[in-house]
Amino acid sequence: MTTTKDFGLNGIDELRFAVEDLDSAERFAADWGLTRIEGADTLRFRALDGSGVEFVRTDTSDPRCTPVGDASGLVEMTWGVDFPENLEALRAELATDREAVIDDEGVLRSHDDLGFRLAFRVTRRSDVDYDVTRYNAPRRPARIDERAPRYDRAQPYEISHLAIGVDDAWQAAQFYLDRLGFRVSDRYADRGIFARCSAEGNHHNVFFMNAKQPGTRFNHLAWKVRDVHEVILGGQAFDAKGWLTFAGPGRHLVSSACFWYFLTPFGGSWEYAADEDIVTEEWQPQDFAAEAHIFSQWTFGLEKSDGTLKGPISASRAAGPDPVAEGQFAG
Ligand SMILES: [Fe+2]
Repeated sequence: MTTTKDFGLNGIDELRFAVEDLDSAERFAADWGLTRIEGADTLRFRALDGSGVEFVRTDTSDPRCTPVGDASGLVEMTWGVDFPENLEALRAELATDREAVIDDEGVLRSHDDLGFRLAFRVTRRSDVDYDVTRYNAPRRPARIDERAPRYDRAQPYEISHLAIGVDDAWQAAQFYLDRLGFRVSDRYADRGIFARCSAEGNHHNVFFMNAKQPGTRFNHLAWKVRDVHEVILGGQAFDAKGWLTFAGPGRHLVSSACFWYFLTPFGGSWEYAADEDIVTEEWQPQDFAAEAHIFSQWTFGLEKSDGTLKGPISASRAAGPDPVAEGQFAG
């Protein structure tokens, strides 16, 4: 069920992870292409638009440092809104059945029904200028007397979406749909819900998926890069630093994103993503059967004609987890 609520939500500003090993998290995020915020109280990294992550050491005596699901994982999501008045409207909505307080810094703090802490603030992300990749299609060239862009490494522009593994995706999505005004963009029957926080924008900001492992936990975080070449060249550079592929490179069927997932040292995976669908009120959600081949239109490592995922793409990663066995279907 979708709603007509509109709280001016415009995307994820920041995610807080609590991890047991801060050093490996720091190395992972720096290698990923994020910029460390110098002088911050905690370990913080930013993409080009200002969206980012914060890492704290796991401390179960402090709810702000207690991950959901595992010893390392996601603690809190901070969502951006357009205007300060959106915060008061959100506070009034949430306060009907839970704690919802706007703090001294103008950040609304509450929680969802899964155990994650929620924060809302007037977005601190910004539109940063960059050279948009142009392509030379037959008889329709758009790049004249200019070489194609080259990338030594990825430099993520912004957070695309968060994926959360749950026992019941449809049930998990209800709070976001009914209370926060999220909209369903596509579904895997009742096994996966792709939802966006605004009528117009990225195909999904959050993906709830039935995971094979019982319980609720962080599954993956996607970062948008400029084009498919940055996905691949950035992924190659990241691979060269020794981080392990989870799946990819490839292209999703749902959302059309070109992707490359890597395992993080704090659970789940991070995904480079490019060329995702952008949708409006006119978008027609579809139900897709939750079968292995729905994961991608194509993926390096897909060696069977029926599309059965074969997992990692090289022998050096043969010991890595199988995306299908892990309950990782798409997003
Ligand atoms: Fe994804």
